[in-house]
Amino acid sequence: METVSLIINGKKIVTEKSKKILWAALENGIFIPHLCAVPESPLPFGGCRLCFVEIEGVKGPVTSCTEEVAAGMVVNTRTESVLRLAGMAFELIMSRHPIICKECPANKKCALQDIAREMGFKLKPKRLPQILPELPVDDSHPLFIYNPNLCVLCGQCVYICNEVVKQAGLDFNFRGFETQVGTFQNRPLADSRCNSCLKCVEACPVGALSKK
Ligand code: FES
Repeated sequence: METVSLIINGKKIVTEKSKKILWAALENGIFIPHLCAVPESPLPFGGCRLCFVEIEGVKGPVTSCTEEVAAGMVVNTRTESVLRLAGMAFELIMSRHPIICKECPANKKCALQDIAREMGFKLKPKRLPQILPELPVDDSHPLFIYNPNLCVLCGQCVYICNEVVKQAGLDFNFRGFETQVGTFQNRPLADSRCNSCLKCVEACPVGALSKK
């Protein structure tokens, strides 16, 4: 395995060449907020816009899930610009995510709670009003429930279902503000191509998909 060494937040790191900065940082105990990145994916989705870092010599922050490590690279994960951009992205996500932690199936293992704690962000957005979706919950499947009102559109379930399990059971439906994760023709899960592997439930970082 070919390796490179770089500096992240002043810490020297030796890691595999061509690894993305996000995974190199996380493997070395440096937290970078992230929701949409999947380690197995060769083409990161880059949709949540949480994982910004700054690289010395590179103009402006870049997303660490799309940027590869390089020898001698100097990375900072907590600059003023990074905190501003990640904070804004987090507020946008939380502006349409109900804060019902006590009754949420992901309570205490939720990626949003982790990000808020690690980054010092508030779960309740300060600058944006909360406009919450009121979508029907799908509990038609015998093994799991899908609550689209908790979904943050990270796409992890869609990636796992299509690219890992090769089942094509889930996808993004509709467009813009109406975008939802759902089945083909938005059928109930019980009538979809789901093979009940539950990999999507394991992948969901926020409790939108949960076991019964
Ligand atoms: S983890 Fe990088 S944009 Fe979502």
